[in-house]
Amino acid sequence: MNFKKPLDVLLAEAADTGEGSLKRTLSSFNLVALGIGAIIGAGLFSLTGIAAAENAGPAVTLSFVLAAVACGFAGLCYAEFASMIPVAGSAYTYSYATMGEFMAWIIGWDLVLEYALGAATVSVSWSRYLLEFLHKYNLDLPHKLIVSPFETLKLGDGTVIEGGYINLPAIFIVCMLSLVLMRGTKESATMNNVLVIVKVAVVLMFITLGWSHINPDNYTPYIPENTGIYEQFGFTGIATGAAVVFFAFIGFDAVSTAAQEAKNPQKGMPIGILGSLIVCTILYVLFAHVMTGLVNYKDFAGDAKPAATAFAVTGYSFLQDGLIIAILAGYTSVILVMLMGQSRVFYTMSKDGLLPKFFSSIHTKFNTPWKTNLFFMGFVSIFAGFVPVSDLGHMVSIGTLFAFVLVCVGVLVMRKSSPDLPRPFRTPWVPFVPIAGILVCVYLMYSLPGESWIRLAIWMALGVIIYFTYSKKNSVVRKNYADSLKQ
Ligand code: ALA
Repeated sequence: MNFKKPLDVLLAEAADTGEGSLKRTLSSFNLVALGIGAIIGAGLFSLTGIAAAENAGPAVTLSFVLAAVACGFAGLCYAEFASMIPVAGSAYTYSYATMGEFMAWIIGWDLVLEYALGAATVSVSWSRYLLEFLHKYNLDLPHKLIVSPFETLKLGDGTVIEGGYINLPAIFIVCMLSLVLMRGTKESATMNNVLVIVKVAVVLMFITLGWSHINPDNYTPYIPENTGIYEQFGFTGIATGAAVVFFAFIGFDAVSTAAQEAKNPQKGMPIGILGSLIVCTILYVLFAHVMTGLVNYKDFAGDAKPAATAFAVTGYSFLQDGLIIAILAGYTSVILVMLMGQSRVFYTMSKDGLLPKFFSSIHTKFNTPWKTNLFFMGFVSIFAGFVPVSDLGHMVSIGTLFAFVLVCVGVLVMRKSSPDLPRPFRTPWVPFVPIAGILVCVYLMYSLPGESWIRLAIWMALGVIIYFTYSKKNSVVRKNYADSLKQ
């Protein structure tokens, strides 16, 4: 039998503010900041240059628009669910109500790829920017302790570090932010707000100061001719570029993991999800436009810090350090929100009995799921310390796209199974929007390397084993059903 979690039970949980539950402390502003916090990061500051140099040329701006449209379809579906089922846990919770327990487990398990590995990926990028910054001032950490075993790191001055023991700076940032999260949601949101202001300020500074130094010659040709290879330029190059910069949009859905901590989730959730997506899309297109106007797209080939390279053209060299510090602040907020989202998903799965109680234990003083934070501090540290960043990035993208597909399917299912339920926010043009969302996300998944599919399959197989050996037997919904039969 396919067990679904009844909507009235979900709504009763949402209303519960008693002992051992999360508290409603986040305003709509906090929620938009949470979205922007998770979105702007390594994708914008590192991948824009790569996508311009290898796939789209100056038309990387169109790649951003395309990726934004793909995320927009999924975002509209997320917004309907998040306003309707304002409970922590995001896509996992929506699936439990619509497609049943097994699919919910699959999606919850899959979200670990997005949030936990997302945090690990960005912490490795964070560590790179930090090393580069320290290196400039001759402050070098022992080489073996800053690179994971299977990775080669090339510093700006040409120094090459091949295969170290561990990436300690990446582990350091994960541990620090996990401690902040254990301390309190409100405190974490305040820290996130500050980081978001810093990073949005830096993006705006880049756009405004860079604008007057644009060399229009760099835009000719705007769409370089395709070389004969699918992903190299032309319209197919723009589409491939969209798959590359998709990573830059990951995170808007993290807003929905905090639904249970939103003061007014019916209104705040759609504002948080769609608002952060809109703000970031505008900033991304402008940023990419300025970046490819400052430096010819070909010069970004193999450049790990394209934003800094482009900014150097403006001559505001004294702002270079500020740019790197602000980028570090930006990455910090991505890691913070990803770690927070992860802990909320596992909190909810544990409340439902699908994971051990350990994961839903709330700190009596700080009101946070601190044991989950502690667990993921260790889990994410292992990936951040020992796994190469490109492998991590692809896993994050495929895991996220898979979750988006399931959320779009969920909206279609729920419209059919419960058409009359109140929906404070309705996805427009159903079924067009969810179907378009599914198609675009599947296309983007298809464009990822084959190994990511194999790894996704292995991770999911592990999840299925845990489901049948532990979760199914301990499911609260199943237990309640069995009890109701006895009465
Ligand atoms: N969107 C986030 C980033 O680009 C994951 O860092």
